[in-house]
Amino acid sequence: MKTETFRNRDYLTLLDYSREEVETILDLAFELKRKRAVGEKHHLLEDKTLFLIFYNQSLRTRNSFEAGMTQLGGHAHFLDPSKIYMPAMEGREVAYSTERISDVARTLARMGEGIAIRCYGDPVDWEYGGAHGMIQEFARWSHVPVINMECDKYHPCQAMADLMTVKEKLGFQGTKFTMSWAYSPSVHKPRAVPQSAIIAAAKVGMEVTLAHPEGMDLDPEVLGACEQMASQAGGSFRVTHDFEDGLKGAHVVYPKAWCATPIFKSPVGKSDPKETQRIFDSHKDWICDRAHMELADKQAIYMHCLPCDRGFEVTDEVIDGPQSAAFDEAENRLHAQKAVMALVMR
Ligand code: CP
Repeated sequence: MKTETFRNRDYLTLLDYSREEVETILDLAFELKRKRAVGEKHHLLEDKTLFLIFYNQSLRTRNSFEAGMTQLGGHAHFLDPSKIYMPAMEGREVAYSTERISDVARTLARMGEGIAIRCYGDPVDWEYGGAHGMIQEFARWSHVPVINMECDKYHPCQAMADLMTVKEKLGFQGTKFTMSWAYSPSVHKPRAVPQSAIIAAAKVGMEVTLAHPEGMDLDPEVLGACEQMASQAGGSFRVTHDFEDGLKGAHVVYPKAWCATPIFKSPVGKSDPKETQRIFDSHKDWICDRAHMELADKQAIYMHCLPCDRGFEVTDEVIDGPQSAAFDEAENRLHAQKAVMALVMR
């Protein structure tokens, strides 16, 4: 396991990490999962502190980082941006309410060994790429690693747990991985999970299908990168607008809602929630129920990053059924992130 390339590195998107590096993170994640299972101490980050800044709510991400740092012998310190001077980009500051990101990043970096940030949607007024830009700004000013806990473009922590789950259930070679849109009554859903899932699956050479209705397109740059990575890794990448076609013969079925393009501001979208709602509501049949699961391979697993919208994205029967890997996936957030932290924060 070659680990020197990780030290002090930001973890913002899997596009920045090679396939070999991803495999190294996974190897360590499995080793840390084993150590925890047998009660073997693994204090790889003793006395180290990770600052967690959440602009949005979270169950899995916050708790897996906090528990993970405890298990590594360090401490995760939660920061609610509304209780500090809200970190803001240069030019978007408000006197005595915000603090420039360059100042926040340099201050925290002098006190701890890592800064992790979640920001998407409302805090950046649904300006696509605005939240990723903020996290990049933290990384520019921090001399300790910055970890992306989900922005408007990427969720690399979720993607690493997704890979870990597929690897332990099925392996990567020849695995047909379908990331699909699914209906939700809520139109405010970031694209970070599906974009990072297809990046991860393409990078390790799976047979990747992206299924979604017209109007739910993902970032063309991400799609281009997936095509390139899939061909380099000996896998494949395709897009379909037919739900059933996307599910047919799949080994991994990963249906979840993401927002339609019009929700974003110009130049990406039209900032039009009504149009987005119209597009969503015309695809209520994109629900992962038993009949849809039966189109997939007999051994197929069902995945979801959670939280899921039960009764809309998926039926109880599927998510609580024998093919569901959703809770293994949630647990793997802990192990995968511990591996990332241990490698970049040493
Ligand atoms: N999947 C995920 O990131 O969950 P939370 O929003 O609960 O952190």
